[in-house]
Amino acid sequence: MRPLLLVLCWLLFSQQHTPSYSIATDTLSRGRSLASDERLVSGNGKFAFGFFQMGTSNLFNWYLSIWFNKIPKLTPVWTANRDHPISGPASPELIIASDGNLVMLAQGAIIWSTKANITANDTTVAVILDSGNLVLRSSSNSSHIFWESFDHPTDTHLPGAKIGWNKVTGLNRYTVSRKNSIDLSSGIYSSKMDLDGIGRMFWNSSTVYWSSGEWNGKFFSSIPEMSAGSSLANFTLVNNDQEVYFTYTILDENAIIINVLDVTGQKQLHAWTGQDWFTINDQPRYQCDVYAVCGPFTVCTSDADPFCNCMKGFSVRSPEDWGIEDRTGGCIRNTPLNCGDGGSGNKTGMSMTDKFYSMPGLRLPQNGTVIPSASSANQCAQVCLNNCSCTAYSYSKDGCSIWHDELLNVATDGNGEMLYLRLAAKEMQNRRRNKSGMIIAAAGGASIATLAVFVFLVVIWRRRNKKWPIHKMDNDPGGVGIIAFRYVDLQYATKKFSEKLGTGGFGSVFKGWLSDSVAIAVKRLDGVQQGEKQFRAEVNSIGIIQHINVVRLIGFCCEGDRRLLVYEHMPNGSLDSHLFQSHGAILDWNVRYQIALGVARGLGYLHHGCRDCIIHCDIKPQNILLDTSFVPKIADFGMAKFLGRDFSRVVTTMRGTFRYLAPEWISGTAITPKVDVYSYRMVLLEIISGKRNSPKHSCSDGNVDYYPVQVPHKLLHGDVLSLVDANLYGDVNMEEVERVCKVACWCIQDSEFDRPTMVEVVQFLEGICEPEMPPVPRLLLAIAGG
Ligand SMILES: *[C@@H]1O[C@H](CO)[C@@H](O)[C@H](O)[C@H]1NC(C)=O
Ligand SMILES: *[C@@H]1O[C@H](CO)[C@@H](O)[C@H](O)[C@H]1NC(C)=O
Ligand SMILES: *[C@@H]1O[C@H](CO)[C@@H](O)[C@H](O)[C@H]1NC(C)=O
Ligand SMILES: *[C@@H]1O[C@H](CO)[C@@H](O)[C@H](O)[C@H]1NC(C)=O
Ligand SMILES: *[C@@H]1O[C@H](CO)[C@@H](O)[C@H](O)[C@H]1NC(C)=O
Ligand SMILES: *[C@@H]1O[C@H](CO)[C@@H](O)[C@H](O)[C@H]1NC(C)=O
Ligand SMILES: *[C@@H]1O[C@H](CO)[C@@H](O)[C@H](O)[C@H]1NC(C)=O
Ligand SMILES: *[C@@H]1O[C@H](CO)[C@@H](O)[C@H](O)[C@H]1NC(C)=O
Repeated sequence: MRPLLLVLCWLLFSQQHTPSYSIATDTLSRGRSLASDERLVSGNGKFAFGFFQMGTSNLFNWYLSIWFNKIPKLTPVWTANRDHPISGPASPELIIASDGNLVMLAQGAIIWSTKANITANDTTVAVILDSGNLVLRSSSNSSHIFWESFDHPTDTHLPGAKIGWNKVTGLNRYTVSRKNSIDLSSGIYSSKMDLDGIGRMFWNSSTVYWSSGEWNGKFFSSIPEMSAGSSLANFTLVNNDQEVYFTYTILDENAIIINVLDVTGQKQLHAWTGQDWFTINDQPRYQCDVYAVCGPFTVCTSDADPFCNCMKGFSVRSPEDWGIEDRTGGCIRNTPLNCGDGGSGNKTGMSMTDKFYSMPGLRLPQNGTVIPSASSANQCAQVCLNNCSCTAYSYSKDGCSIWHDELLNVATDGNGEMLYLRLAAKEMQNRRRNKSGMIIAAAGGASIATLAVFVFLVVIWRRRNKKWPIHKMDNDPGGVGIIAFRYVDLQYATKKFSEKLGTGGFGSVFKGWLSDSVAIAVKRLDGVQQGEKQFRAEVNSIGIIQHINVVRLIGFCCEGDRRLLVYEHMPNGSLDSHLFQSHGAILDWNVRYQIALGVARGLGYLHHGCRDCIIHCDIKPQNILLDTSFVPKIADFGMAKFLGRDFSRVVTTMRGTFRYLAPEWISGTAITPKVDVYSYRMVLLEIISGKRNSPKHSCSDGNVDYYPVQVPHKLLHGDVLSLVDANLYGDVNMEEVERVCKVACWCIQDSEFDRPTMVEVVQFLEGICEPEMPPVPRLLLAIAGG
């Protein structure tokens, strides 16, 4: 799923076209039109207003939007025609019509209009204000406003805008989520301020799934963390005869913070950190508390990734929609129910009777029908079997409940209850076969008896401070997970840790076998304290990801003091052993280039493809492993840091550190993925030179030695060949060498903002974009000059 998402992200990046130039003004007046390649920019330069194109490969839509002018990741904060995009080649334009309204036209047809009641005698102008508010006002009297975008928010509540009612005019301003991650049209979730001064979130405008609670002058009772955020923002609730609304302002003018009702139905406070948006706060706090977020016949697990999984016997209705974050379609039954004979004693039909599959530890679906007459679990099951539309029952001390048709809002809950899901008998038979198949696959066919692995499926938590939800494999055949091994099994698999592959900073690595064909590398962590930290970092980071260029974690063992990690085994060892050792075959240039590209892709994925950005912090050739075909895999995540996760932790634990942390993060001076970019350049230089350039690089690495100083100079003088490993005897692709040198120089620019992201590095190396000649970094100049 992740690679798919990543691909979609890239698609999105490459297929958003923003206007190439701006009219140097914030105002559109009568007689001028805004063409599709033009934009207005607010006086402070913060917001742009104009057209942009978005869509998938064969369908582009034009949207009229407001976005942050200076943020490289296009983020529409308001869209005029979200539900009426213009597709095809028709080039739209924006004018002020003769009646004074702002009108969007495409091929002569009116697509959208402000539809305001213009009562002035003079003309009107449209102005994009510093706050990001687009206003249509009288040209002579700037306080005479006929229409403003703040009155018609889409999914974003900008600082300074009001969410709530004008009691006099009856205007209600509220946000509505997007349909999915690539479509701006209105989704199913909305967030409103009601007349009683309580904020609520709705599914399909009718079902309330979240309530803010009462305002106490500082915060809403269900969002106490707002009080910790008061050093960041000024939150206000106004409730008087004329209006009731909630608004907020950001105290630091340079901070970029928005409140968005996300596709997933959560209201999220996002801050721009210089590289990407990060979520400071989510409401509702648990993803699964959003009504029907996974659709029917799913089990939601808030901290898992993905958080939606189909129930046993069901499959995703529309994988395409799930891929773009619209999971509301849920899952559909694989095999129709045998409904009809109801277990009524028809002997021949008996084997075809539907069966019940037990699902423990769940929050039950809503709106069950209580059956007081059923006094045992069997009777309860029978009542369900007797009605074709019944899909599940539960029987507890509170008696029997049954459910009809779609099952919604089922979520995992450690202390939850047992739900019996009705399935066709055939599905249950399948299940038995699958189950034994999986054990064989996991434990290895050679010795099932001795290697009786406890196979648990561990749905990985997203945030470190939550406990691990562990589910029996039966519950979740989706395969998202890793295996919890017993220590004795690993002892057996590694022949009592006899074949040592290497020693790292935190422990030793041994070779082992899961079966005759599946080789594994088992890392035994030393030192309880140190080991624990590294263990968690490692399981947290690579446990959740699957990428061709990231080493795969198969499982772990956590018994008493013992901490072991089990990986796929990499027959070709680490990159440094190939680059720096005089004996053995030399890696040819083509392989080196593919390795550079693979590592860049892996890092790009860690930084941009995962939900929480993972910063590796220890990128070096020793931590890049090579498989049989020399495909590189990033390994050793013991130092990894999580960007998004830390952000939420600080706010949710409310230690008062928010004040201290926020400005630092928001100005981008805290560590960012660019530290990995910086380290990556060293890998590039070592790949070119075949020489060890620096004995050690860490996150705080700032040391630059002689060889890297040469690179920008050689590059400027067109003499990169002299930088190349002599062992290659000049058998290289000069264009590629030059490109790698350029990328390496861009990666160590003094300002992290000048350094490319890993996604850009990939594009450079793939030849999709051509990097410009990099300036010589000042730091390097100083060293070379001194
Ligand atoms: C527009 O304003 C005029 C004068 O105030 C009023 O009579 C008319 O009903 C308004 N029209 C709408 C659609 O509000
Ligand atoms: C518009 O102009 C007419 C005549 O010029 C005048 O009678 C009227 O009061 C004006 N209306 C407004 C709202 O200024
Ligand atoms: C400008 O418009 C505002 C709001 O409609 C009004 O209160 C004010 O009197 C107007 N000023 C002038 C000079 O017309
Ligand atoms: C949403 O509500 C409308 C009626 O208010 C209904 O027609 C529609 O089917 C509902 N949508 C879903 C997905 O249930
Ligand atoms: C917060 O906002 C309110 C209303 O907008 C304002 O009266 C108050 O002075 C502001 N407080 C601070 C500290 O800016
Ligand atoms: C029930 O049994 C009768 C014969 O006893 C058989 O013809 C019929 O097909 C059975 N019904 C089902 C649903 O299997
Ligand atoms: C379903 O349950 C919800 C909350 O438990 C309740 O508000 C709603 O009225 C119920 N709907 C039906 C049709 O029983
Ligand atoms: C099955 O349950 C539904 C919903 O309660 C009910 O409308 C229907 O009449 C029931 N059918 C039978 C055969 O009892």
